[in-house]
Amino acid sequence: MSLPATASSVPKKVTLVEVGPRDGLQNEPSTIPLAAKLQLIDDLGAAGHTVIEAGSFVNPKWIPQMADSEAVFAGIDRRAGVRYSALTPNLRGFERALAAGADEVAVFAAASESFSQKNINCSIAESLQRFEDVMAKAAERDIPVRGYISCVLGCPYEGDIQPDAVAAVTEALLEMGCYEVSLGDTIGTGTPGSMQRLLERLLRDFPASGLAVHCHDTYGQALGNILVALQHGIATVDASVAGLGGCPYARGATGNVATEDVVYMLNGMGIETGLDLERLVAAGNRISAVLERPTGSRVARALGD
Ligand code: HMG
Ligand code: MG
Repeated sequence: MSLPATASSVPKKVTLVEVGPRDGLQNEPSTIPLAAKLQLIDDLGAAGHTVIEAGSFVNPKWIPQMADSEAVFAGIDRRAGVRYSALTPNLRGFERALAAGADEVAVFAAASESFSQKNINCSIAESLQRFEDVMAKAAERDIPVRGYISCVLGCPYEGDIQPDAVAAVTEALLEMGCYEVSLGDTIGTGTPGSMQRLLERLLRDFPASGLAVHCHDTYGQALGNILVALQHGIATVDASVAGLGGCPYARGATGNVATEDVVYMLNGMGIETGLDLERLVAAGNRISAVLERPTGSRVARALGD
């Protein structure tokens, strides 16, 4: 396996998309007080995040933890320069997000048919069709739309996913107007090898500036996979403070990569993020205390309280 030379191809600056308040909390079994969610969002802004996914306007019967997303958006003490975004599966979700004041929304598709059915109750093609309505309304209102693809390196039902399948969904999302596609290794089974194969395929057709990576650390591969993405010129990385989260329809997908761990690695590589590691660790420790469990960030554990 040959990788591009690190020094020449790694971006000097990386944007971290903080998904803790949404992807991190959506799977929590107990109800998290609204005040704790608002504190988390405020702590993340104070740590220097410029993009925070604050909630999700999906069917509350499916994801009860996100049922209070209207109240979350209403309660955010907005900081200048921060984009507060929300997940929207359909036009109804988009309208809720717009009314709540989301700056940006995200639609989400899958690279695997079985996962699409379990997660959003329709085929990949049907989901893309539903997004067309969202895209049209978003264009009218000048709201940027991000696209997610789940299961890009593996599916809990179908196993390995072919890079061509991811390329087809990436093309559809970019063509319909998403400004960026976030490549989700939802179950964290990817390795630097499969990440490299995927990116080599995608970068034949799409610029690195239109792609982000969203790695779960289930198998301890997330930082390695992110490093490979950086070496391919990807400059947007999703992460979740304290390693919160997992996907409710992906068994074993415990833990997004911890933001603190990504920032520690990027600091060590001299890559600018605009984030304050100490404040991030404090934010992660505070929400972990609310959830009554140790932080999922290795860096936060190493640094202690
Ligand atoms: P559906 O069940 O297929 O059917 O929902 P529907 O469209 O006919 O709607 C059924 C019911 O949902 C109706 O209510 C609708 O009004 C309601 P009822 O008559 O039964 O009372 N409904 C809504 N309610 C509120 N807001 C809405 C909305 N839309 C419909 N926007 C739907 C389809 C997609 C809505 C449903 O399947 C759903 O909400 N699924 C949730 C999926 C989800 O949130 N998954 C987790 C996020 S994805 C993820 O975590 C992966 C990612 O992070 C990447 C990674 O980690 O790799 C992105
Ligand atoms: Mg995730």
